Amino acid sequence: MPAVADAIQRLIERHGPEAICAALEPMLTRERIQRIDTVLAHRLVSLATIVEDTYDPHNAAATIRTTEAIGIHQLHVIEPEARFSAAGGVTRGAHKWIDLVRWADPVAAIRSLQGRGFRVYATLPGAPHSIEDVDITHPIAVAFGNEHDGLRDSTIAACDGALGVPMYGFTESFNLSVTVALAMSRLATRRRAALGAPGDLPDEQRRVMRARWFALKVRGVVGVLERTLARPA
Ligand SMILES: C[S@@+](CC[C@H](N)C(=O)[O-])C[C@H]1O[C@@H](n2cnc3c(N)ncnc32)[C@H](O)[C@@H]1O
Repeated sequence: MPAVADAIQRLIERHGPEAICAALEPMLTRERIQRIDTVLAHRLVSLATIVEDTYDPHNAAATIRTTEAIGIHQLHVIEPEARFSAAGGVTRGAHKWIDLVRWADPVAAIRSLQGRGFRVYATLPGAPHSIEDVDITHPIAVAFGNEHDGLRDSTIAACDGALGVPMYGFTESFNLSVTVALAMSRLATRRRAALGAPGDLPDEQRRVMRARWFALKVRGVVGVLERTLARPA
C-alpha cells in the first residue's frame, strides 16, 4: 500500500491535482464525490492528536479511527519503546485518510508542533485546567499517555500545560482510547465554533487531498492514471 500511495503522490506532483481528479471523476459516483467533498470541508488541521507509548493494538486502532472520524487530519505517534501497531479490522481503513506521523523522540515531536504554531497540552487525570476551559482560539495538539504509566515526566515538562477530562465517579482515569474520543470530540466541537467553520484545510492542501482520495477509491488506480494521462488530449 505505501508503494501505491507513493505512486499516487508522484502522479499528483507530475500532473497536478485537477488533472488527476478530472481523469478519475468518470469512475466515481456523484454520491462518492459529494462524500469526499463533505469530509474535506470538515477536516481540521489546527487540532492534532498525539499518543505516546501506546502498546495495546486495540487502543491504537481506536485512536486512529476516532481521530479520523472526528475530522482531525494529523495523528502523531511517539514510540520510543512501544511499537504502535493497530489491530487490523478495528481501524476500518481509517488510517488511509489521515496523516500518521511517527516520532522516536517525544520532545522533538512537541517542539516541531510548537514551531508550527500549536500549543501542546498533556492530558492528566485531575489537572487544574480541562478540555472545557482551555483557550481554543489557537491551534492545539493534545498528548495522551501509556495505558499503565501515563505520559513520561519529560513529555509533560515539554508541553505548554496540562488538561483533564472531567470525571465524577470513583474511577481514577478513563481508558486511553476513550479519553482520546471524549477529549478530541469536545475540542473539535469547540474549535469549529471558534473558527465559525466546519473545517480549516488550506486550499492547496485540500486540492491535493481531494486528488489523493479520488485515487484511493479507484481500483488499480496507478495503471488507470498512467493509461489515461498518457493519451494525447
Ligand atoms: C489509563 S490512563 C493512564 C493512567 C495513569 N496511571 C496516569 O496516572 O496517567 C491513559 C491515558 O489516558 C488519559 N486519561 C485518562 N483519564 C484521563 C482524565 N480524566 N483526564 C485526562 N487524561 C486522562 C491520559 O492521557 C493517560 O495518560
